Amino acid sequence: MQYDLTDNITSKSTKGSAIFGVFSDKNINTLSKSVSASDLKAIKGIINNSSFEGKINQNLCIYESSNQRIEKIYLVGLGDKDKYNEKKFLKSVISSCELFKKENLKNIYFCIDSFISSDISLNWAVRNISIHINGIDYEYNDTKNKTKNKNPYKISKFIFKFNSIRKNYKENIKKYFAQGAAIANGIKLAKNLGDLPSNICTPTYLANTAKKLGKSNKKLNIKIHNEKEMKSMGMNCLLSVGNGSEEPSKLITIKYNGAGKNQKPIALVGKGITFDTGGISIKPSNGMDEMKYDMCGAASVLGTMKAISELNLKINVVCVVASAENMPSGTATNPGDVVTTMSGQTVEILNTDAEGRLVLCDALTYVSRFKPKHIIDVATLTGAVLVALGKVASGVLSNDEKLTEKIKNSSNISHDYVWELPMWEEFQSELDSNFADIANIGKRYAGTITAACFLSRFTEEFSWAHLDIAGTAWNEGANKGGTGRPVSLLTHLLLEDAKSL
Ligand code: BES
Ligand code: MN
Ligand code: ZN
Repeated sequence: MQYDLTDNITSKSTKGSAIFGVFSDKNINTLSKSVSASDLKAIKGIINNSSFEGKINQNLCIYESSNQRIEKIYLVGLGDKDKYNEKKFLKSVISSCELFKKENLKNIYFCIDSFISSDISLNWAVRNISIHINGIDYEYNDTKNKTKNKNPYKISKFIFKFNSIRKNYKENIKKYFAQGAAIANGIKLAKNLGDLPSNICTPTYLANTAKKLGKSNKKLNIKIHNEKEMKSMGMNCLLSVGNGSEEPSKLITIKYNGAGKNQKPIALVGKGITFDTGGISIKPSNGMDEMKYDMCGAASVLGTMKAISELNLKINVVCVVASAENMPSGTATNPGDVVTTMSGQTVEILNTDAEGRLVLCDALTYVSRFKPKHIIDVATLTGAVLVALGKVASGVLSNDEKLTEKIKNSSNISHDYVWELPMWEEFQSELDSNFADIANIGKRYAGTITAACFLSRFTEEFSWAHLDIAGTAWNEGANKGGTGRPVSLLTHLLLEDAKSL
């Protein structure tokens, strides 16, 4: 997709449709910088004769324009002016994108001044518009044979139409548009990895995806550890999860070196269970297909690596994906089995369905060799986080308040929501075991917290945070599909760290 900016649609301009935001007061005086006085008068008449009330998700198409270069004018509802904020802005951008798709618009003049208010920053707005318009072409088609049209809708040319362009804004728009495009590409990768079925998206497939990503940028270094190598590193706990599966487990390491060697990296660790049956502690069959999404933590850290490498950020990041398939079989781990983790601590596996923490604990021990300044793990770890936070917010639990603040700040900027749950020491005794150093499950309550407590035993020396994305990584029902969350949150965090926001 091409993009451009202009403050004047002249006879030499590209022919396209013009999009304006209109509040519920239906005041369209902001359009006067873009359409003629007689058009403005006609539009007022059309609005008054229509059911358009300027509400969010409403729009109105006006076919007539005296400007030969403007094919159609679309008004998009913004809701009440006094309630307008970033959330409403994002809603209006999403609803605009749906409109572009429905109307198959190719060239678009997006009249940005009509969408912005005094408390919405232009740079932030450009980044977010870019995320959405560059994400518009994601469609899952990989395993559909009957779908004839495998060319999803794309915008050809997107033109930011300003009332007047501030000096040097061209450079700024380039920067923030590129950030949005990179985030969109990261999200699309994460969505696709999530949506692929487990007979395609195996641990080996994730490893190959990482290798392919590695070829796109010289600053990326990929290392895949196989089961034998993991065994010799002592990663028995990770390996115990894949014991029942024919698919070999993989440990994927991606190093992104964008800064000097002595700059400590930020570590991202992703849970990559390509299918979670529960193992011997098998899950009920209802909705079990959704457990193909149990690698969405891995997908999101891979998507984030794609985004930051496209942006060539001046930071160091190390990404580790712990990938296995959790299956029941004669070789599977049994409840009550005790394994020794890479850290030396032993774990009593009381429930083989609490497998995410078992792969993550060894990955967390392994990542400490890179002496990271922070470790953030991302995992579809507990059904309990759905009870607590629904599908709106990811859970964040951490041993470092400052890191939590950074994550919350990035969440506020990206609108990729998180909510903190406490990790007080009172919860730790839930993991006491009669037969090992730690049990892999707590008792009945606070499942998200006890899962994080388990992980905390492996990150004591580090500034660490855990994101439980079991509620946010995919949509259920008719819109079943990956969301790409929290790629946006993580990329914003790394942009902030690179001082590029
Ligand atoms: N992958 C699941 C968590 C999950 C459940 C994600 C539902 C999304 C929707 C995880 O491996 C799991 O099975 N967790 C168990 C832990 C329990 C056995 C302590 C759970 O949440 O029930
Ligand atoms: Mn499980
Ligand atoms: Zn799982």
